[in-house]
Amino acid sequence: MNIIDIINKKRLGLELTYEEISYAIMGFVNEEIPDYQISSLLMAIVLNGMSDKETFDLTEVMLNSGEKISLNKVEGNVVDKHSTGGVGDKVTLVLAPLLASCGTKIAKMSGRGLGFTGGTIDKLESIPGFETTMNFDEFINQVNSIGVAVIGQMNNLVPADKKIYALRDVTGTVESIPLIASSIMSKKIASGADKIVIDVKVGNGALINTIDKARELSKMMIKIGKKYNKEVVCILSDMNSPLGNSIGNALEVIECIETLKGNGPKDLTGLVILLASYLISMDKGVSLDDAKLMTIQSIRNGNAYNKFVEFVNAQKGNINEIKVSDKVFSIKSPKTGFICEIDALALGNIVKKIGGGRINKKDKIDYTVGVVLSKKIGDYVVENEELAKVYLNKKDLVLNEIINCFKIENSVGKINPLIKEIIK
Ligand code: URA
Repeated sequence: MNIIDIINKKRLGLELTYEEISYAIMGFVNEEIPDYQISSLLMAIVLNGMSDKETFDLTEVMLNSGEKISLNKVEGNVVDKHSTGGVGDKVTLVLAPLLASCGTKIAKMSGRGLGFTGGTIDKLESIPGFETTMNFDEFINQVNSIGVAVIGQMNNLVPADKKIYALRDVTGTVESIPLIASSIMSKKIASGADKIVIDVKVGNGALINTIDKARELSKMMIKIGKKYNKEVVCILSDMNSPLGNSIGNALEVIECIETLKGNGPKDLTGLVILLASYLISMDKGVSLDDAKLMTIQSIRNGNAYNKFVEFVNAQKGNINEIKVSDKVFSIKSPKTGFICEIDALALGNIVKKIGGGRINKKDKIDYTVGVVLSKKIGDYVVENEELAKVYLNKKDLVLNEIINCFKIENSVGKINPLIKEIIK
């Protein structure tokens, strides 16, 4: 077998065998096949796609490239959640303690920011002292004792995805349904939970920008899940405008705290409650309505917020020390009208540029910067009224760029619903 024949086969749109996929992927993981040949194969996959069988085989090869976690030592079920990534997507920080406060255990491994999207681990690390690494026994003990732990991806888990994802990020090969499905599902299966909800973001601030592609991806992930006896539900949610009001690490943590106290933005609160209701219902076998009631009660009676404090304390974070920049600028509306669009992708890139994300892999993040929206889609604004606040540290000239993210018209226009579809 040789890698050039495999690349040519995929270039011609032919189906690869399990052995050929394994040869290519494991050759790359073991550093016997160089970056440039795998990049070429990945591009052929992006352009010609993969059959269901090839996607199953790719998932299996990736899954077997490292260790699999057994959650047997956790008493009862453990659930998991994944998001395909978006701007202002801080759901895990609210969802995880909310679930635990309702008695549903979550053992979650999360990622860092990628491209224009933020990452849960970076957000958690904006809480001074918060530790996002622990050994496996500590992880399990924490899930058993308080019902929730969130850490970075363990190194020995799906190493093939780590190497391939880093390459895809810099070779224009991220946007491919078989590659995304196998990347997400190999990690979810290796992480051990049996009940999984995937938040599939759709829109200009997401990897998937059409509903058809989101449906195709969701159906593929559900099929992969079935092969491994995993119950997977996909919630397709809008990502044309940012989720919630805040974008930027510490600002998002503060918004999560407000949401857990019941004062969060409507879109974020609604999405978290929906995801939590599915997971609680899958875990406990109760109806969706009963599960939803539990989440609402837990936010109202303070249990959800108290669980967040317990979770942060267990991972050595200090919420009283969270800092945001004190250089705050108000962005004023250039005209009167209705907000018809807020460009999530552009805002994600602006926050990255002012230090809230990484341009190069080794960049240090400035946790204190970001943007807080004062207006959302559908809101009426008068000339000179505030559209947003920007928290800066360096003297970046982004004020006009932020104004350009808002499209203001004379009439409201069509407002996209946040939840587009649920696929089971
Ligand atoms: N999230 C992942 O984990 N992998 C992808 O390929 C895309 C989004």
